[in-house]
Amino acid sequence: MNVLVIGNGGREHAILLALKKSRRVEKLYCMKGNAGTAEIAENVDVDYMNIDAVKQYALQHPEIDYYVVTPDDPLAVGLVDELESIGKRCFGPRKNAAIIESSKAFAKELMKKYKIPTAESQTFDNYGNALEYVRSKGAPIVLKADGLALGKGVLICETLEQAEEGLKEIMLDKAFGSAGNKIVIEECMRGLKYNPGEEVSVLAFTDGKTIVPMITSCDHKRIYDDDKGLNTGGMGTFSPCPFWDEKLEKQVLKKIMIPTMKAMNAEGRKFKGCLYFGLMRTDKGMKVVEYNSRFGDPETQVVLPMLKTDLMDIFEAVTEEKLSDIKIEWEDGACVCVVLASGGYPISYSKGKEITIGDIGDTVIVHAGTAIKDGKLVTNGGRVLGVVAKGKHIEEARDKAYKAVKNIHWENMHYRTDIGVKYRKG
Ligand code: AMP
Ligand code: GLY
Repeated sequence: MNVLVIGNGGREHAILLALKKSRRVEKLYCMKGNAGTAEIAENVDVDYMNIDAVKQYALQHPEIDYYVVTPDDPLAVGLVDELESIGKRCFGPRKNAAIIESSKAFAKELMKKYKIPTAESQTFDNYGNALEYVRSKGAPIVLKADGLALGKGVLICETLEQAEEGLKEIMLDKAFGSAGNKIVIEECMRGLKYNPGEEVSVLAFTDGKTIVPMITSCDHKRIYDDDKGLNTGGMGTFSPCPFWDEKLEKQVLKKIMIPTMKAMNAEGRKFKGCLYFGLMRTDKGMKVVEYNSRFGDPETQVVLPMLKTDLMDIFEAVTEEKLSDIKIEWEDGACVCVVLASGGYPISYSKGKEITIGDIGDTVIVHAGTAIKDGKLVTNGGRVLGVVAKGKHIEEARDKAYKAVKNIHWENMHYRTDIGVKYRKG
């Protein structure tokens, strides 16, 4: 099979690396890709948000058998529906199911209606009513822009003053554009051990009939060590989550994952693809923080390297709604991904810095914002590389990853030094 993966990031490179191991995949393509994807796939220079251009490309390339649509924005505008309408087979939800990520108000309503555990919330499209609600609830309180906002549309407000300021930014100043036309105002969940709470990302394959959780992982969203500074797309991940076990998985399947799949079916929005559950362990049990309609980034970078089953077999089983026929197996041990970013990310940073990579042992470099310029590997984005290491346990994996990081350089490179330490202290 010839397979095209849509997207430019570390997640897409990780998916391509997993597909490369498939005995069934002949040639890989990536639209648009980066310097890393170019090493294992043919990069296709088409803007994937230009739906007509993608369709035209697909029609002109009948040799491509299968499309994997991974980023949130093409899913939200219905790229899968469009490709299917011209007879192409895809991995990824249709538009009417991708709404589980593209509208937080929709996701909250769904959870309320089907009694799926999540933080108590209310949705507003009127600033005055929202302000009144915030004042009646007090701080701490969480504000979420309804639409897609590059993972930045969530404000955890410790004081009422911050909440009022945040409300103004989202609803009046439109800091996240039209994503802020509606706002979800949510109770701040308290953790069992830490506050706000302990988070785990669970990606799951689902064909609408069966849902199979992958191994778990934990993300580090803030830019600096000890979860300080601004939120980012994710500065590193490790797998598995230390507080996860079989008993918890059974509970989460029963109370959260299967009910979510059934709820989407009941709404006439069958979800096929990878459904991402952002969960929090709270003093009142596991709750949903967010859903994503796709693989997580950088979660995918630590989950897929542990997959023993052929990823292409899984993708096709999802498309054909035969997921229950497949046994999905994982390696034992642990995996860590340390993200190397451009200094200044997530606000402003320069591009085009030459990257040098020395001895990285048996780690794998996953590319995100990279390009080749004048024959040299250069930075081309905020998050640039992910260094992925496996080990018997998380400590071994992180030691390997950080050893490799010492041999990678560019001007003003920034990374967190505490990936994989989370939930281990205290
Ligand atoms: P989201 O984009 O919805 O994943 O939110 C980003 C981050 O904000 C989450 O990963 C949590 O760390 C935090 N967060 C979101 N909602 C809540 C909540 N209700 N209580 C506490 N923390 C939250
Ligand atoms: N790592 C969080 C996300 O992919 O949204």
